[in-house]
Amino acid sequence: MSAFSTSALSDLYATRAKTLASAQIWPEHEGDLISLAYGFAAPELFPTDDLLSATVEVLAEDAAEALNYGPTYPGLVQFVVDRLRAQGTPAEADNVLISYGSSQVLALLPQVFIDPGDVVIVEGPTFMGAVRHFALAGARLITVNVDDEGLDIDALETTLRDLAKRGQRPKFIYTIPTFHNPSGTLMPLERRCRLATLAKEYGVLVVEDDAYGDLYFENPPPPRLSALDHEGWVVQVGTFSKILAPGLRMGWACGNRDIIQRLASFKLEGSSGPFLTRMVERYCADGRLERHIADLRAAYRARRDLMLAAIAREWPPDVHVAKPEGGFFVWARLPQGLSATALLAEAEKHGVTFVPGTHFYADGQGDDAFRLSFSFVPPAHIADGIARIGAAFRTLG
Ligand SMILES: Cc1ncc(COP(=O)(O)O)c(C=O)c1O
Repeated sequence: MSAFSTSALSDLYATRAKTLASAQIWPEHEGDLISLAYGFAAPELFPTDDLLSATVEVLAEDAAEALNYGPTYPGLVQFVVDRLRAQGTPAEADNVLISYGSSQVLALLPQVFIDPGDVVIVEGPTFMGAVRHFALAGARLITVNVDDEGLDIDALETTLRDLAKRGQRPKFIYTIPTFHNPSGTLMPLERRCRLATLAKEYGVLVVEDDAYGDLYFENPPPPRLSALDHEGWVVQVGTFSKILAPGLRMGWACGNRDIIQRLASFKLEGSSGPFLTRMVERYCADGRLERHIADLRAAYRARRDLMLAAIAREWPPDVHVAKPEGGFFVWARLPQGLSATALLAEAEKHGVTFVPGTHFYADGQGDDAFRLSFSFVPPAHIADGIARIGAAFRTLG
């Protein structure tokens, strides 16, 4: 296309488009660089043959419905409902909305709940892919930090109390209680119960992002917040991305039916794909998904173990690294005086990359920590990548 200068366009852009920086980072061919940055699924673990046979079956048996305009396949809604119920969340079909990835729910939530200036409480660190949607809708973000056991509930209670004194009621608290991105933390049951109680007491919704909840390596995690809440204060956001394949773009919201209806009314394209919803249901049926998840747990656990063993060998002992009990990430906290951005610059010279902590805070914190992902890097490169970061530590002294 013939190019005209971008300045000719600049007056046309909406204010939000002028200020929003591109957030997507996709892996490029990076030569010898070992990337521990991407929180992607391991491509070699995709159940490609089974997905292919599910596709063939849907097209052979149900092409007229699958390939036309039409509603989300109710069979997939029922599959998600049954799975949620088996996990203790008391869902019915009208409590569930199937979406294009959980990202779509995270984009719909502010449409339903946020007017400019409304308060939303987010974790620090957190998954900024969600928080950017809230910010774009004009939310006033208040950060409550995460410690080794997830969201600091004492600090949350203080924040809620202070806001209430000023007559301010936050719209929701966005939290990732189980195998947090990026910190890898797991919120214990006692904190979960307190969070559910606080939500009720202050009349604040909790958005529970459960992207990694099924990927535990040792013991199953405590009950989801959505299973502890009996009054509808929790909206669970879930996804097939981590347990099946992100390219399918298939996720869900589960919550109070009035909220689900409102989210659905902002999902202006209507259904989530007659073909894909059938194909995913066909794949998941007969226990295939659960068997696949068991394989994923073993494969990701082995990668986590490789990474932690290499860290113990190669890094200075005063770098704080907690052992994640599930999920995709290892979160490293630096000793005082070291900067993650400076470490990254040095590490890239040694041929390895990761994401500095500043990418995971809405309020500018984070240069004292960084995130490593063990999900996407080929296992054979993990020890080398960690050793290269060890060399970067030594250069920085
Ligand atoms: C915590 C968290 N929530 C949501 C998502 C988005 O997932 P989806 O592929 O379902 O849009 C991610 C993806 O990395 C994530 O880490």
